[in-house]
Amino acid sequence: NNIQMQDTHGRGHSYLRISITENCNLRCTYCMPAEGISLTPKAHLMTADEIVTIAQTFVNQGVNKIRLTGGEPLVRKDAKDIMLRLGKLGVELTLTTNGILVHDFIDTFKEAGVHTLNLSIDSLQKEKFNQITRRNYFDKFNENLELLDANGFQLKLNVVVMKGFNDNEIIDFIELTKNRNIQIRFIEFMPFDGNQWNKEKLVSYAEILSQVNDKYSVEKVERLIDKPHDTAKNHKIASYKGRFSVISSVTNPFCSSCNRIRLTADGKLKNCLFSNSETDLLQTLRSGGAIEPLIFQNIKSKHAMRGGMDDDAKFQNPKLFSQNRSMIKIGG
Ligand code: GTP
Ligand code: 5AD
Ligand code: SF4
Repeated sequence: NNIQMQDTHGRGHSYLRISITENCNLRCTYCMPAEGISLTPKAHLMTADEIVTIAQTFVNQGVNKIRLTGGEPLVRKDAKDIMLRLGKLGVELTLTTNGILVHDFIDTFKEAGVHTLNLSIDSLQKEKFNQITRRNYFDKFNENLELLDANGFQLKLNVVVMKGFNDNEIIDFIELTKNRNIQIRFIEFMPFDGNQWNKEKLVSYAEILSQVNDKYSVEKVERLIDKPHDTAKNHKIASYKGRFSVISSVTNPFCSSCNRIRLTADGKLKNCLFSNSETDLLQTLRSGGAIEPLIFQNIKSKHAMRGGMDDDAKFQNPKLFSQNRSMIKIGG
């Protein structure tokens, strides 16, 4: 209800996503180009102190949820320190991670008050997992999934669905929810710089549901009520413990209820995943200026939908999405 955190479309912004690093221990094809990315020099990245200062400013303005992203947030050397300090801000703190390093962070999560984690996992088959991540950590991922589960963390598993690659695993993923209270989230593949997106690789919400309805009888597939600001359309199979959801950013965007704002690892504010206009908060912070006015201005300039790419032709125009960052430099 802070009017200054509202955009011109009446949307309030209470959810801050902070990328704390551009580095990652995996090389997922949909997230970064094969040739890698040029990393921002360390001096231009936010320090832990700067992250905490900026986060505190947002909390003072009404942010009540912070999600750490990356790259992979847990590869950052001072990730523990950052989490413990953000944990004291009195907001819901959470992370999106690939899970490879979580075994080292169980105590930190607990101490920082992290109760939920979103994990990326795009295939349940070792070869395919290794192919998409261009690394060999399948067994480690599974070990850590069990560890998180055993420690009582509430888990969402993010699956980016790509035609001809993992769309034949949709039912296998849903079967994971039979005996466990986890949430599988199928994500429509989105275009970003360098990720070779094209419409043919997209598996839509409608296609995913039709596969599900073919497998389970229609009465068994329940549509659940979504929480406000949820990116996902939630469903479950009757009698299964967990649920499955679809994040349909391409065919069915949720922009009208967007409450998100993003801070990149180099301290730039991005008011939409697809907007390439950024506001440099870090530079102003370093020169001793006030960042609040910049935050308010940035929010006021937010487009109604997908960074201004409001029709499908614009959204699917490779020239436009190549003006954006690659996903690894945004943080999802
Ligand atoms: P919750 O906080 O649990 O709702 O998670 P989330 O869906 O916001 O975050 P997560 O990092 O797990 O991202 C899952 C997918 O949703 C990724 O593909 C993100 O890029 C996408 N996503 C997250 N926030 C937004 C958003 O504001 N807009 C769009 N279009 N996609 C988003
Ligand atoms: N399309 C959809 N989702 C993506 N993610 C990364 N790149 C893409 C993309 N091109 C997801 C990852 C991660 C989350 C932060 O963003 O699965 O879980
Ligand atoms: Fe929000 Fe932009 Fe995502 Fe739409 S595309 S939900 S406006 S971040």
